[in-house]
Amino acid sequence: MKVNQDKIDKINQLKKEKNAVILAHFYQEGDIQDLADYVGDSLALSQVAQKVEADVILFAGVNFMAETAKILNPSKKVIVPDVKAGCSLADSAGPKRFKEWREKYPDAVVVSYINTTAEIKAMSDIICTSSNAVKIVNSIPNDKLVLFAPDKFLGSYVRQATGREMVLWDGTCQVHEFFSESKVIELMEEYPDAEVLAHPECPPSILKYANVIGSTTKIIQRAVESTADKFIILTEPGVIHKMKKLAPEKTYIEVPNLNGCSCNECPYMRLNTIDKIIHSLETLQTEILIDEEIRLKALKPIQKMLELS
Ligand code: 13P
Ligand code: SF4
Repeated sequence: MKVNQDKIDKINQLKKEKNAVILAHFYQEGDIQDLADYVGDSLALSQVAQKVEADVILFAGVNFMAETAKILNPSKKVIVPDVKAGCSLADSAGPKRFKEWREKYPDAVVVSYINTTAEIKAMSDIICTSSNAVKIVNSIPNDKLVLFAPDKFLGSYVRQATGREMVLWDGTCQVHEFFSESKVIELMEEYPDAEVLAHPECPPSILKYANVIGSTTKIIQRAVESTADKFIILTEPGVIHKMKKLAPEKTYIEVPNLNGCSCNECPYMRLNTIDKIIHSLETLQTEILIDEEIRLKALKPIQKMLELS
């Protein structure tokens, strides 16, 4: 769907007026990706957010991403188009249970996925994203037990890749959890030359079919650089927008979920719309605010990650 040019003009005018930039994740609808100043995966977006000089950051993604931007660049006003844009992983780790969990293993190192709230980050030793999780865990001294939260599937992938002793929090991404294994097998039979590209938030029963496992950026890069011309995509289909832009001649195949429908869009990411972005820029709402004590505690483990990335 082509977005109305008047709306794009309006957004550009508001951006100028408010001195704002728009950062968008690869899981946003194509029209939002196209009007953003920067589109990236969760690591790249935090690196960009840290360096933004404009007064306002409009974050078209989900709340934990906007919170990370605020933690890293607190003098900026960080706004989101829809404050209900949560994440099933971030929701799975509440502060009370998390505190009790970490207290059970006082000598362990706590690695938290960036898909967590600021409060959980503040209780963590180091943060990771899907693109650097293996590297981050490998940076921890060998004699240390690793607690990994909240994604048990990313955690089990990292455990296998590093051979480390890890205790995993029991959280999942509701998008990646439900790809249908039988459909993956069917599609692999139908398209025997296709490469299977998967995000590590998928369960091991799905990851075992992947030729390449990686973050959204890695999956997109692989599709562009590979000599294959067909790809079975095991992540949120927002990435296909970028793939089609960079390699339009190739074929990208979505995989149905367990309900049999090709509806693997993240329900949180997709709450953002062009109209909500306009409203957000007009009103500078909803602003992300973080208690300063929590922000300072959450900043340390994020900075550790960025130093290693
Ligand atoms: P990346 O942006 O690190 O690939 O992660 C995908 C995701 O699910 C973000 O919520
Ligand atoms: Fe959270 Fe999954 Fe949506 Fe990413 S795709 S924001 S992990 S629910």
